[in-house]
Amino acid sequence: MKGLILSGGKGTRMRPITHTAAKQLLPVANKPILFYGIEALISAGINDIGIIISPETGNDIKECVGDGSRWKIKITYILQDEPLGLAHAVKTARPFLGDDTFVMYLGDNLIKDGVGPLVKRFQEGGADAFLLLKEVPNPSSFGVALLDAEGRILKLEEKPKQPKSNLALVGVYLFHNKIHAAIDAIKPSARGELEITDAIQKMIEMGNRVDSHILQSWWLDTGKKDDMLEANRVVLDEMSDASIEGDVDNSSKISGRVSIGKGSELKNCTIRGPVVIGQDCKLEGTYIGPFTSIGDGAKVSFAEIEYCILRENCQILDFHGRIEDSLIGLNVELTRSHNKPIAYRLMLGDDSKVEVV
Ligand code: DAU
Repeated sequence: MKGLILSGGKGTRMRPITHTAAKQLLPVANKPILFYGIEALISAGINDIGIIISPETGNDIKECVGDGSRWKIKITYILQDEPLGLAHAVKTARPFLGDDTFVMYLGDNLIKDGVGPLVKRFQEGGADAFLLLKEVPNPSSFGVALLDAEGRILKLEEKPKQPKSNLALVGVYLFHNKIHAAIDAIKPSARGELEITDAIQKMIEMGNRVDSHILQSWWLDTGKKDDMLEANRVVLDEMSDASIEGDVDNSSKISGRVSIGKGSELKNCTIRGPVVIGQDCKLEGTYIGPFTSIGDGAKVSFAEIEYCILRENCQILDFHGRIEDSLIGLNVELTRSHNKPIAYRLMLGDDSKVEVV
């Protein structure tokens, strides 16, 4: 069985952050979202993985992920010239997939549980496709499934205005090679994409069996800033391995689960976990509150930061204020020239410079 991870697309919903970066490389608890998907497939015993990339962000993805040797697996990059839909991505990957069965995993999704038990059920159960679903309060934002009493899929619709159920398609799909004939038989949707939901619907019409499993644990589609912060919260909340490798001076106070990477220095700071601080960071006179991730090389002084993701090499210096619920891109410089009490909610793209006067 092969794995196919979709990491193309344009990521318009995460702008400005994704003007310069692939959304699948945004970090959750200091690890790119895409790595969670790769590791989920590996834990299901899949070691031959194709990754769909786009011309805009493909090189960054290749550079960050590499050839798979760090996980001892084989990774093949597949260039999709335009984001013409999830089924178009599968069509583009046809030479890689051959006639194998495969797991398709959306590179911007995070699920708590691995996919191992699903792969086993699919391989033993005799279905032609197997979909992961989750009950959601806002089904119109997703692909929506209607099931029969045995959990087989009767109908699928992509982001319907009037959903027929509250069961959303989570970004994990298992396919027999019969999916390719179904994709060949569909036309682009009204929004101009070859929809995987239409292809699966076509499989059903062709007499194939499509089974499903309803996920009980968390699933996060990391499309927007608040989703990213929630993903960061959930992953940090479950973080079990906290280790302090950097230098923390005697006047700093650390409580809860806190990880501090090599080469980082903390002077007179209060850190209240769960928090992860990367390598080579410098923090002084700063409070870092729960559910915050700080990327490698960041510098923060005289600030309060809570429920935030700060990316690599950002600098928040002599700030004398509070930043919460914020996503700060790579290399951002944030300074302030007065120290009246103040709080901010921010989404700052990579390389931004902000001066609060
Ligand atoms: O998150 C679950 C939802 O994902 C499902 O409920 C929907 O049925 C499914 O269509 C999909 O909807 P999204 O609107 O979230 O899809 P998005 O455009 O964000 O693309 C998902 C991933 O696939 C993302 O990593 C980008 C990648 N992609 C997307 C397109 C359209 C590609 O690699 N190529 C593409 O052509």
